[in-house]
Amino acid sequence: MRLLIAGGAGYVGTRLVPALRERGYDVEVADHLWFGNHLPPDIPIRRGELFDLSEEDLRGVDQLIFLAGLSNDPMAEFSPAKNFVANGALPAYLAFIAKRAGVKRLIYASSCSVYGYTEDQLYTEDDPVTCAYPYGISKLQGERAALQLQDDSFSVIALRQGTVCGWSPRMRFDLIVNTMVKSALTTGTITVNNPSIWRPLLDIRDDVAAFTRAVQAGRKLSGVFNVASGNFTVGQVADLVKEELERETGQRVRLDIRNVQDFRNYKVSCERAAVELGFQPQYSVKDMVAEVMAHRGEYGDMEQDEYYNIRVFTKLGAAERDPAAARRD
Ligand SMILES: NC(=O)c1ccc[n+]([C@@H]2O[C@H](COP(=O)([O-])OP(=O)(O)OC[C@H]3O[C@@H](n4cnc5c(N)ncnc54)[C@H](O)[C@@H]3O)[C@@H](O)[C@H]2O)c1
Repeated sequence: MRLLIAGGAGYVGTRLVPALRERGYDVEVADHLWFGNHLPPDIPIRRGELFDLSEEDLRGVDQLIFLAGLSNDPMAEFSPAKNFVANGALPAYLAFIAKRAGVKRLIYASSCSVYGYTEDQLYTEDDPVTCAYPYGISKLQGERAALQLQDDSFSVIALRQGTVCGWSPRMRFDLIVNTMVKSALTTGTITVNNPSIWRPLLDIRDDVAAFTRAVQAGRKLSGVFNVASGNFTVGQVADLVKEELERETGQRVRLDIRNVQDFRNYKVSCERAAVELGFQPQYSVKDMVAEVMAHRGEYGDMEQDEYYNIRVFTKLGAAERDPAAARRD
């Protein structure tokens, strides 16, 4: 089976692509390489803008996995206009040409960010989405555009991922657990902006399993699926990271608890993914911390720009501030 992974050189893709190849899939990546290339050297890569792909380029591909676009709130807030193009229009365009090219399935990397600020209730895929900020709205746009094209010959599976954490050869330290580990290691302190906020977290290995289950799912399966390893409050995550770090290093870690308002608060049910995809998360916050720690010898300076999407994005000049951003400042 031939798989094309759009945005496959990012944090998630750099673990997913080798895992898929190990299972015998014929994989190819299409990516700008904004964050470099940390994939095994023999993975074929088409370097460039995904909008430049044509229907012809997708002929012979069985499944397209979309992992591209702007992948967090700071990037989206920096340039809302470019965010809506990258996260809304780009998946719509790729779904459109993929279907015309005879691709049988699109797997879309959606986000639990679409849920927005919710009251303390477990959200299913059928509950209303309330996000009112650029990243969440745009991920929903991409998801809806792709699903719009779904039919008997074109399956669309949208995975609403929790915040992915853990180690990847293309590392990010701007994701909650990874950030806390970095801060504890470099400053001895973990800052907790709001301990009562809920977040679903997803170990990157569970994420790889979720995408793999989606690739393998029955031909006719389509739909939206929440995927997370578990739901946690930010205060709980900090306690777990602190405990694990202190055990591992023997150093005391201090918690700096603040009360900053957040516009995202949600916890999700993954029942549908369990029943329809066979998704069974295996990892805990402690496992995420342990894996990030196990690779600490290879990070060098954990504050360097390449570990923070917004810094790379700003430097690349890929985004100029647009009027929507300027007005809010
Ligand atoms: N990491 C998370 O916690 C998380 C959570 C929920 C959803 N998601 C979604 O999952 C996907 C993967 O996340 P990630 O953390 O691996 O992101 P990432 O930022 O590490 O990687 C994105 C990759 O896409 C490429 N890319 C982006 N736009 C492109 C374009 N127009 N043309 C060519 N290449 C392009 C970049 O070069 C990069 O390699 C994203 O769509 C993100 O929105 C991520």
